[in-house]
Amino acid sequence: MNLNKQVLLCVNIDHVATLRQARGGIYPSVVEAAQLTESSGADGITIHLREDRRHIQDADVFQLKEIIRGRYTLEMAASQEILEIAKKIKPDLLTIVPEKRQELTTEGGLNVIGNASELKEFLLEVKKANLQASLFIDPDLATIEKAREIGASRIELHTGKYANCPINSPEAESEFQNLKKAAEFAHSIGFIVNAGHGLNLANLPKILQIPNLEELHIGHSIIARAVIVGLNQAVKEIKDILK
Ligand code: PXP
Repeated sequence: MNLNKQVLLCVNIDHVATLRQARGGIYPSVVEAAQLTESSGADGITIHLREDRRHIQDADVFQLKEIIRGRYTLEMAASQEILEIAKKIKPDLLTIVPEKRQELTTEGGLNVIGNASELKEFLLEVKKANLQASLFIDPDLATIEKAREIGASRIELHTGKYANCPINSPEAESEFQNLKKAAEFAHSIGFIVNAGHGLNLANLPKILQIPNLEELHIGHSIIARAVIVGLNQAVKEIKDILK
């Protein structure tokens, strides 16, 4: 049963840029990808401007501002350098994530308890700039309480642990229950609750049993699936030239 009648789909297109950066060329275009994504029904576009610029580049952030019609979410570390860029483009939401240079992707939620005073200050600066922030956190009740204490009003629950468990396994059920409890608690104390990471066609339906989710941020599985469902046309187009 889908209790999230209004849950919004924000598609993370970082991996379109990953493909482009693999050759350092101009395609695939993130602008074209964002336009197609939105015209296909997505409610918004999400990108992560990493400090190491491994996929999305500064120019992308500015170009996307011109064409995104729905929600524009910028994922970022709590970094002054990236905040200065965010102030210029004013995305609808800044999702604050922990960032490590060696990681393949965002591996865990923010350590809100261990970095409370730095994050509190960062959130104040975001507020001063008239921007909205969301903290990307693990489904942990003490972390949610601390997030409230330091002035956050939005969170994104990290669904990665759940997503990494085999479908329908007891481990998946246990991680799902953690997410559900966390979402219910956060919503009950006034948070707007988003979720994301590792979600795909197989593990998404169960996530929709969690009530009151506002937005889902999904990237890798959609871009990966697009490769498979798009290959047919891509090969035909080249064959047509060879004929
Ligand atoms: N939410 C956050 C905060 C992320 O950092 C990411 C990955 O960039 C996602 C959602 C999307 O995760 P995935 O690409 O696994 O769908």
